[in-house]
Amino acid sequence: MTQTSTEIAARVGEILNAHEGMEGPLLPILHAIQHAYGYVPRDALPIIAKRLNLTRAEVHGVMSFYHDFREDPAGKHVLKLCRAEACQAMGADRVAAHAQNRLGIEWHQTTNDGQITLEPVFCLGLCACAPAALVDGKVVGRVDEARLDAIIEGVR
Ligand code: FES
Repeated sequence: MTQTSTEIAARVGEILNAHEGMEGPLLPILHAIQHAYGYVPRDALPIIAKRLNLTRAEVHGVMSFYHDFREDPAGKHVLKLCRAEACQAMGADRVAAHAQNRLGIEWHQTTNDGQITLEPVFCLGLCACAPAALVDGKVVGRVDEARLDAIIEGVR
């Protein structure tokens, strides 16, 4: 269900109130909003900026610096592929290119059917089993093209 700007403003206002007086509140606020919606709605940015006496660009800059914050709702399933060094050394770039090709999307995009969102992640602590992936929060190791295809088939 899509929420109206008024509903978003009300909920974001509650979240801002809950963080009133906190030191360095921006990240906790963004996390709370993403927890509430699954992403950070664009309508929330000017509200946050005004309350924290920041520019909208400053809020957006922080959001885009941290890869965990989404600007749009995720698909039904979230496939994260590790982009860090150990995985790259084991062929993560090839697997990522295969994933983008197969799904027809780039990083941070969702397939047209709304099923799969593809996101980069930086080290899942599974370096010994690189390349690693996170499928709906579950870690998977030794992800080659064939295993990736199986993962995609498995969630569709
Ligand atoms: S570098 Fe990919 S899991 Fe550590």
